Amino acid sequence: MSDLLLDCRGITKRFGGLVAVNALDLQIPAGSIHSVIGPNGAGKTTLFNCITGFYHPEEGEILLGGSHHLEFLRTDEITRLGVARTYQNIRLFPELTAVENVMVGLHARLESSLLGVLFSSPATRKEERWATEEALRLLEVVGLGGKGDGLASNLPYGDQRRLEIARALATDPKLLLLDEPTAGMNTGETASMIRFIRRLRDDLDITILLIEHDMKLVMEISELITVVDFGQKIAEGKPSEILANPRVIEAYLGRGAAEALDVRTAAAAPGAAHDATSDADADAAADTASDSGTPPGPEPTSSAGSQPDPVDEGGGSA
Ligand SMILES: Nc1ncnc2c1ncn2[C@@H]1O[C@H](COP(=O)(O)OP(=O)(O)OP(=O)(O)O)[C@@H](O)[C@H]1O
Ligand SMILES: [Mg+2]
Repeated sequence: MSDLLLDCRGITKRFGGLVAVNALDLQIPAGSIHSVIGPNGAGKTTLFNCITGFYHPEEGEILLGGSHHLEFLRTDEITRLGVARTYQNIRLFPELTAVENVMVGLHARLESSLLGVLFSSPATRKEERWATEEALRLLEVVGLGGKGDGLASNLPYGDQRRLEIARALATDPKLLLLDEPTAGMNTGETASMIRFIRRLRDDLDITILLIEHDMKLVMEISELITVVDFGQKIAEGKPSEILANPRVIEAYLGRGAAEALDVRTAAAAPGAAHDATSDADADAAADTASDSGTPPGPEPTSSAGSQPDPVDEGGGSA
C-alpha cells in the first residue's frame, strides 16, 4: 500500500531464551496516530528499539516509505531517513542547557565538518547561528520559550519531556516514536500533551507512533491501537474495538477499567471518528535521540505543575 509510512513484517527480537518481540506485524499509514499498548514487559520498547536501530531484529523486515529497509541500518542512518524518538526514561544531556540539547538533535542536519568547527570558518559560524535560532524556535513550538538558557537537569519533569520532543523534532522527522510521553505527568499536563501530540500530526504533518499506559490518553488520541502481550500482537483495531475485545480485557485492561473507559471516552471526545461496526456510543474516543550518543538519562522524580498547551502557547509551526 503506497501510503504506508512504516511496515514492520514478522519482527522477532530475542534476548537469550526470551522472545521479547515475536513475529510482530505493524503497519502505520502516513499521517496517523497509532498506539502500542500492553502489560509491562510485553515488548513495546523493544519494538521501538528495533525500529530505531538500537537493536537489530533476528527476523523480519522494517520498511520505511515502502523502500528503505531499516532493520540493517544504524540509529544515525535511521534518524536521517526521518525517524525520531523519545525515551521511556528521559535521556537528556543534563549538563547542557535546553537550547544546547536541541542543537544536539539539529546536528544530524548540519553540514559543517569537524575542521570547520575547530577553525570557526564563516560557513560554520553561519550554520551555528541558524542552529541556535532553529533550536530556540523549536523550544517555542514545544512550549519552552524563554527556558533555553537553563540547564536541562534543572527543568521540571514535564518540561524535560517536552525538551526531549524538541530534540526529536530537531531531526525533522516524518515519523515520531513517543515512549510513554506522559509517564509521571499530572492530569493537566497529560491533557496538554494530548493536544500537543495531535497538533504535531495536524500542523506539522508528523506521523505518530505512541507507547502509553494512560488509557484515557490512548483512547482519546489513537486512530488505531495495537495490543501486545508476551511480544505478540493479540489485538488491533479502533479504540472502541479494543475496549470491547475480551482478550485485551483479560490480558491488560481488566473489565472494570474497560467499562469505565468506554463510558468516559464516549462522553469526552466529540471530534473522534465513529466506528460503524461497534455499539453506537462506544467509539467516541478513541533512548534523539538522535543518533548521536544520547546519554543515559536522569530519572527525574518531580512532576511539574499544570502546563499550557505547548503549541498553543508557542504558536510555532515547522
Ligand atoms: N537489553 C535487554 N536484555 C535482556 N532482556 C531485555 C532487554 N531489553 C528488554 N528485555 C526484556 O524484554 C522484555 C520486553 O521488555 P520491554 O522493555 O520491551 O517491555 P515493555 O513492553 O516496554 O514494558 P514496560 O511497559 O514495562 O516499559 C522484558 O522481559 C525485558 O526484561
Ligand atoms: Mg517500555
